[in-house]
Amino acid sequence: MKVLVTGGAGFIGSNFIRYFLKSHPDSSILNLDKLTYAGNLENLAELQTALNYRFVRCDVADAAQVEQIVQERFDAIVHFAAETHVDRSIAGGREFVQTNVLGTFTMLDAARRHRVPRFLHVGTDEVYGSMKPGEFAREDSAIEPNSPYAASKAGADLLARSFWQTYQYPVITTRCSNNYGPYQFPEKLIPLMIANAIEGKKLPVYGDGLNERDWIFVEDHCRALDRVLEAGLPGELYNIGYGQPVANIEIIRKLLRLLDRSDDLIEYVKDRPGHDRRYALGTERIQREVGWAPAVDIDEGLKRTVEWYRGNSGWMARVCGGEYQAYYEKHYTRRGETLAAL
Ligand code: NAD
Ligand code: TYD
Repeated sequence: MKVLVTGGAGFIGSNFIRYFLKSHPDSSILNLDKLTYAGNLENLAELQTALNYRFVRCDVADAAQVEQIVQERFDAIVHFAAETHVDRSIAGGREFVQTNVLGTFTMLDAARRHRVPRFLHVGTDEVYGSMKPGEFAREDSAIEPNSPYAASKAGADLLARSFWQTYQYPVITTRCSNNYGPYQFPEKLIPLMIANAIEGKKLPVYGDGLNERDWIFVEDHCRALDRVLEAGLPGELYNIGYGQPVANIEIIRKLLRLLDRSDDLIEYVKDRPGHDRRYALGTERIQREVGWAPAVDIDEGLKRTVEWYRGNSGWMARVCGGEYQAYYEKHYTRRGETLAAL
């Protein structure tokens, strides 16, 4: 299979590329990424010289460049590229609309015209909005996005839906809960708390710390996407989650225990505006129709995550110091691996 992955230099995309090429060594991947602050090619350093992996720097909202790339024949597109951090979307949402809405449209439009036979659009559970205690969102639940990030992802999901309804273009959408694991940018809760705890800095907990998220280990998400690519139905929507929401403060206490640090590092700070109280997903459809179930529970996943960050302090230092952003110029442009070389 020849696959075009967008946003493959980010957290989940890079984990997916590694997972996919390991599980399907006969396949090849072209990774298309704009390399925003969240894109880090060092995440895939071990693949840099692999014959079945290529990288191209491109903005998913740039119709002319996307056209040039998609006209090369692909068997599938897996679309991760997005602006992803809720706090940044609160500070300014324009990039979110540009990339998540217009970028998704641009990818869908090129893929449809060039008849790419499968398009997997990677979405988020945040589009359902906040769930009440005991309530779990199903694929037919209403979408009620509350942050500019969630609203822009909901817009992308609706465009994906329209391409199936209008053109019978075989797009599949997934909506996954909060991921954690290796290579996550330290702006999100778990890597930020690990980084701060290692350095003995305070851990900022928004509000009362009782907001719940249905944390899933990134490898479980990658396996789900691989299965959906293989067995998902065109036009279908699949929730992906662990199925057990956990309060933020509980996650933080678990991390502090794993890192052998005191709870005194916890600092309650002003709440995030419009902070969703609880995300929770019903995942019966993917379990029943695709035959996927999560395998890594939160204790095992956090242990593996903490071990990874402890063992990769150089990665974290280069991310925090900004050196990671020079990786592309250093390793790619010199070798002429630009769009023109495709
Ligand atoms: P990330 O922020 O770590 O990575 C995003 C990647 O997209 C980066 O490599 C960035 O350079 C690239 N990108 C951004 N704008 C681009 C553009 N205009 N053109 C091309 N590339 C661009 O994100 P992530 O956490 O890996 O999330 C990947 C996808 O999964 C997103 O669509 C996100 O909405 C979805 N998702 C994430 C989570 C989560 O918990 N992280 C949960 C569910 C769904
Ligand atoms: P985050 O990782 O930003 O993911 P999302 O907002 O997409 O769910 O945040 C996860 C939860 O952790 C969310 O309830 C907000 C909270 N949080 C904190 O309490 N402190 C922090 O510094 C961050 C980044 C998040």
